[in-house]
Amino acid sequence: MSQVTPIPTPANDNIKPEPACVDEHDEIVAAVQAVMAAPKRKVAKQAPWKRRLEARRAARRAARKVARRTIRETVPAVVAPAQCITIPKSANDNAKVLCGDCRDLFAAIPDQSIEIVITDPPYFLQGMGEDWDNAELQRRSRNPAKIGSLPPNTRFDPKQGRDFQAFMSEVSEQVFRVLKPGGFYVSFSQARLYHRMAVAVEDVGFEVREMLGWVRPGLPRAMKLDHFIDGRDDADAIRASIGGRKTPMINQTLEPMVLAQKPRDGTFVDNWMRHGVGLVDTSQTLDGGFPKTLMSVDKPTKAAKDADGNDHLTVKPVALIEHLLRLFSKPGDTLLDPFAGSGSHGVAAINTGRGYIGFERDPHNVEIIEGRLRRAA
Ligand SMILES: C[S@@+](CC[C@H](N)C(=O)[O-])C[C@H]1O[C@@H](n2cnc3c(N)ncnc32)[C@H](O)[C@@H]1O
Repeated sequence: MSQVTPIPTPANDNIKPEPACVDEHDEIVAAVQAVMAAPKRKVAKQAPWKRRLEARRAARRAARKVARRTIRETVPAVVAPAQCITIPKSANDNAKVLCGDCRDLFAAIPDQSIEIVITDPPYFLQGMGEDWDNAELQRRSRNPAKIGSLPPNTRFDPKQGRDFQAFMSEVSEQVFRVLKPGGFYVSFSQARLYHRMAVAVEDVGFEVREMLGWVRPGLPRAMKLDHFIDGRDDADAIRASIGGRKTPMINQTLEPMVLAQKPRDGTFVDNWMRHGVGLVDTSQTLDGGFPKTLMSVDKPTKAAKDADGNDHLTVKPVALIEHLLRLFSKPGDTLLDPFAGSGSHGVAAINTGRGYIGFERDPHNVEIIEGRLRRAA
């Protein structure tokens, strides 16, 4: 765990009561109704399409107002500067980043106050577990030949899966607590340990609704076996038997995500009207068709990362997170990301008119996030 000073729990006076979500939703609906019901002379040019456009703008304005208030109320000023909270002071003050271990920082978030969680936890493969150390990972990626006798991410250790599941249970319990009923929880995972995460998420009470997948170019990791064969008396016989076969690793071109939902409060419609979450906007598309579980989006290039001052090793494409946000949330909602990394989810939240709260343990990454959020805002 990181060395952060304790944060007041929701029981403390510092934290105001959870804002009434029914009121928030009603506020947006009322803003739309006011425009639609306004006498015709008050709406420019009277045309129905202009009235609808004006209504959409009013909904967005009301949603932004609600998001600003929600974040003000849900994340009070409890984090001392030593814990390096970053609040971009800019056109968009809906984004907050808290530096520390998410398992401590969750205490700053009241129950049932968050509409959506989209996160990308540590993979729990070599050096990317609870001991995630950016500097060490950077060093290794510069010297790939020195990582024992195997390339990164190819060592198998059954303990990795068990540790990952225990870690994700602890985190998912908190996600369950802070999400509104019917709220969506999307969590990435390295393909080899996806099953552990899905079980952890389900066991804390979520309904696992789908497995989603980010489709991206992979790296060939299968290895030739020459160094085990060379010098053996039976080398020729082994080569004849093995042919060109390699170790069992083909290109990983799929990064799975669990799509889970907190149990609803009543029917889908009841839940939406009470909490404003739990339905999917199926008009959102990446390829022109109905939204699909497999999502093909390019990886951020090194040039784009460099231009953004971003040296994080596992950066998700902003366009992918924007698509997830548009599908599973609405403008004005608040996205919580307990493993913010370089802040791609925060940039996506700003770009799509959502509020954002990110937790990140590494102060170096927090600096990267701050720069990216300021530029996006
Ligand atoms: C896979 S990366 C997230 C990358 C991010 N999606 C992006 O696009 O930049 C996971 C991040 O979680 C952070 N991390 C690991 N354990 C943590 C913890 N217990 N609390 C908060 N952050 C943690 C690591 O420092 C790392 O930056």
